[in-house]
Amino acid sequence: MQVQDPVLAQALASDSEPTLPPHLSPDLFPRLAAGATLCGGEHESFAVETPFTRQAFGSVLMGTSADVDYAVERARRAQQSWAKLPVAERAATLLRFHDLLLERQAEGLDLIQLETGKARYHAFVEYYALVATARYYAYHGPKHLRSQFRTGFLPLLTQTEVHHQPKGVVGIIAPWNYPLLLVYTDAMPALLAGNAIVVKPAEQTPFSALWGAQLMYEAGLPPELLHIVPGYGADAGAALTEAVDYVHFTGSTEVGRTVGQQAAAGLKEFSLELGGKNPAIIRHDADLEKTVKGMQDTCFLIAGQTCVSTERIYVHESLFDEFVTRFAALTEAMLINARYDFSAHMGSLASQEQLDKVTAHVDDAVEKGATVVTGGQALPHIGPLFYAPTLLTGVRAGMDLFREETFGPVVAIYPFKTDDEALALANDSAYGLSASVWTRDLSTGRRLAECLECGMVGVNDGFFAAWGSIDAPMGGFKASGFGRRNGPEGLLKYTEPQNVATQLFAPMVPAALGFTQEAFAGVVDTAFRLIKHIPGLR
Ligand code: NAI
Ligand code: MG
Repeated sequence: MQVQDPVLAQALASDSEPTLPPHLSPDLFPRLAAGATLCGGEHESFAVETPFTRQAFGSVLMGTSADVDYAVERARRAQQSWAKLPVAERAATLLRFHDLLLERQAEGLDLIQLETGKARYHAFVEYYALVATARYYAYHGPKHLRSQFRTGFLPLLTQTEVHHQPKGVVGIIAPWNYPLLLVYTDAMPALLAGNAIVVKPAEQTPFSALWGAQLMYEAGLPPELLHIVPGYGADAGAALTEAVDYVHFTGSTEVGRTVGQQAAAGLKEFSLELGGKNPAIIRHDADLEKTVKGMQDTCFLIAGQTCVSTERIYVHESLFDEFVTRFAALTEAMLINARYDFSAHMGSLASQEQLDKVTAHVDDAVEKGATVVTGGQALPHIGPLFYAPTLLTGVRAGMDLFREETFGPVVAIYPFKTDDEALALANDSAYGLSASVWTRDLSTGRRLAECLECGMVGVNDGFFAAWGSIDAPMGGFKASGFGRRNGPEGLLKYTEPQNVATQLFAPMVPAALGFTQEAFAGVVDTAFRLIKHIPGLR
């Protein structure tokens, strides 16, 4: 593994100004911080540091419940006229946002890397997932939102139409792992549907959210439609759930449960994208060469701090040793650094909490008898929060990482004998977010996929293909979530379906239609007996 970068060494040695990535200037951060929505009064200042060196590069003022209420009120006032615009105009804003993202790629990738410590390629994955989503909703969203005629109670008498009305103000509570994507991938469909947005970004990553907002305004979104309120989860986050008409949360299962309970108590809908303990099944007939390469980013994308990252690999016993050997060789050859270029295969963990949790999980497993095939330690010579990509064998029940999400670059590899055994092991989890099956037999692969209790499954792909298929829903079974993002599902959840039934001749009551109740009952009865036989009417 590469030793410490000279630039980084210098940055760490001096406590002067942090080294900024090439496309960002120091005046960007105060400018972005000024874009937050806060009402008057005192606010605590929060220093934002880059995980690469743990140096602070900017600060924001932390909003409280008063600021959240203020932002929601402003958003609520603006939402009415936004909702009245033709959907094509709202879609055009998304398309301009898409174009601006492409134009500002270098700056955007710099900022994501600076704020999260991820490798540039991993920032690229985040960024282009967002670009793809912008394109998808700009071109396909309007047709999903179109009003539809539905079958009426009695044919010919009733014309029933369903409209999709916006919820009003949608709150987004975002995590730190994908600080740009996990704000705007959910904000875009909500905006397209005619809602206004208030975002509570993660404490440690407010600048990506603020940067995205500036891009949205530049794309023509009236600023009152999108407010960013930095703040603490228990304070601003809880207040947001209280104040909005719909809340979308991405983060830990524990907090997601609280957010869901709070939203349900207010009789408002919500969606949750939570954790995972994602399995991969490698069958006896897998193409080992491709599978090993496929597993690399499936396990180590942003150092495993991705909700869909694989943390459990089940390998057919006939391939087990060879798989472990080859995957270890590939893992050991990974380049790990803190550079703002495409050289690294993996970057840093995002915070001290993450490093502590990853270290504790690995140490616990090793103490209880697991074998470290490779990795198993922090890499302080690269940066303060780096941890080696780690493969473990001999992991058993009773070790913390056997069931709990590590959310780090740590994978346990287990052997299996039969497909049924592999399925049982893979499904033996409280979570159900993502999984993959690796096999040359595609029909068996797809059959096994359907038996996995997970919201998305890749066949001969980790999760990139499923995640990148923006037209299809993404989300979790079991403790991995509630509701979906992407596709029509990820758009229509931000609407209230409204049923408008027009009676063409007279109200649907016997007297108005010129019948006694008894006669009308007879007409309905006869009609029902007939309708069953008429394909166009039933
Ligand atoms: P978290 O769930 O505490 O934070 C996510 C967001 O929720 C942040 O914006 C936070 O400020 C906010 N929040 C916290 N408490 C809140 C409350 N009571 N009401 C409303 N909002 C609240 O996640 P954390 O502590 O950053 O990470 C802990 C673990 O969660 C990770 O190690 C990982 O296992 C998991 N996680 C999963 C993510 C995913 O993509 N599914 C993303 C981030 C974390
Ligand atoms: Mg937390």
